[in-house]
Amino acid sequence: MKEGKFITLAFETSCDETSVALIADGREILTNVISSQIDVHKVFGGVVPEIASRHHLENINTVYKSAMDEAGVMLEDVDLIGVTCGPGLVGALLIGIATAKAVAYAKGKPLVGVHHISGHISANYIEHKDLEPPFISLVVSGGHTHLVHVKGYNDYEVLGRTRDDAAGEAFDKVARVLGLGYPGGPRIDEAAKSGNPHSMEFKRVMLEKDSLDFSFSGLKTGVLNYINTQKLKGREVDVNDLAAAFQLSVVEVLIAKALIAASVTGEKKLVLAGGVAANSLLRKLLTEACEKEGISLYYPSHLLCTDNAAMIGCAAYYKYRDGLADDMTLDAYPALAL
Ligand code: KG4
Ligand code: ZN
Repeated sequence: MKEGKFITLAFETSCDETSVALIADGREILTNVISSQIDVHKVFGGVVPEIASRHHLENINTVYKSAMDEAGVMLEDVDLIGVTCGPGLVGALLIGIATAKAVAYAKGKPLVGVHHISGHISANYIEHKDLEPPFISLVVSGGHTHLVHVKGYNDYEVLGRTRDDAAGEAFDKVARVLGLGYPGGPRIDEAAKSGNPHSMEFKRVMLEKDSLDFSFSGLKTGVLNYINTQKLKGREVDVNDLAAAFQLSVVEVLIAKALIAASVTGEKKLVLAGGVAANSLLRKLLTEACEKEGISLYYPSHLLCTDNAAMIGCAAYYKYRDGLADDMTLDAYPALAL
């Protein structure tokens, strides 16, 4: 490691990934160790909160040690501790927070709690070294679907959000109905590549005129109704076609609303974030749409789209730089607002 760099040690345990990262000067990854529990939860078709907490507790020390060893960093070299403090599963969040607090207390290091969504957005600062606010961010994950006007590193205005299911949740639920397994997003993405998206049509729910909110729960019902109707008629359901049609309807709504958000705010930069940002159709169609509109599009590499501690370290760095530190009273906030 080079001399004189500002080192952030970060923890992320809000859902089913136990991750510890070391970040230099906010944007340079020294290490980003991610231990995924997907295999543990997939037999249940989704994340089981109690099991997630237990696995975080079992894994956190090993993941922490691997991160420190891999980066060749001593705790004495660390300048800041960052940790996801919400939103997320309360028992899962608490494991990361307790560990971060213990390290911060033992070594007298400053501590910063990070909002998980601000972490997802910050993944783009790591990926794109020249990216700076202001911009519009479309945050699409298993737990969130938000359109955010990022006016500064710590200045967010939520322009719209989902009123029911998150985009990733819709992918996961529809994949389960189609028997594709968990997590559903990547499976639907893959199946859709061999399907015809126009073989059937699902409603694009745009809500009220000018609304930047989303609603995806009706789409899941639409898919279920379609499957039941086909069964009643004694017809086979083509899983690939259905996956493709479903995916296109989600992606078209996301893109339409993101472009409206850019247009009403006058922003010319659009930043994609969260697990669903890995979706190949979303990336492709959004790239085309942004080119047409003269908007610069940014998205993270696949690894930085899903939950990881590097993005939390980056967000913690910018909070600390703006004088936003926490103390030992930091707690887990499962429904924390952005
Ligand atoms: O950001 P993330 O790791 O966790 C949350 O904060 O929720 O996102 C996980 C979500 C899951 O719902 C997963 O199905 C979805 O991201 N996802 C995808 C793809 N890869 C992951 N959704 C659509 N297409 C993908 N390629
Ligand atoms: Zn996430």
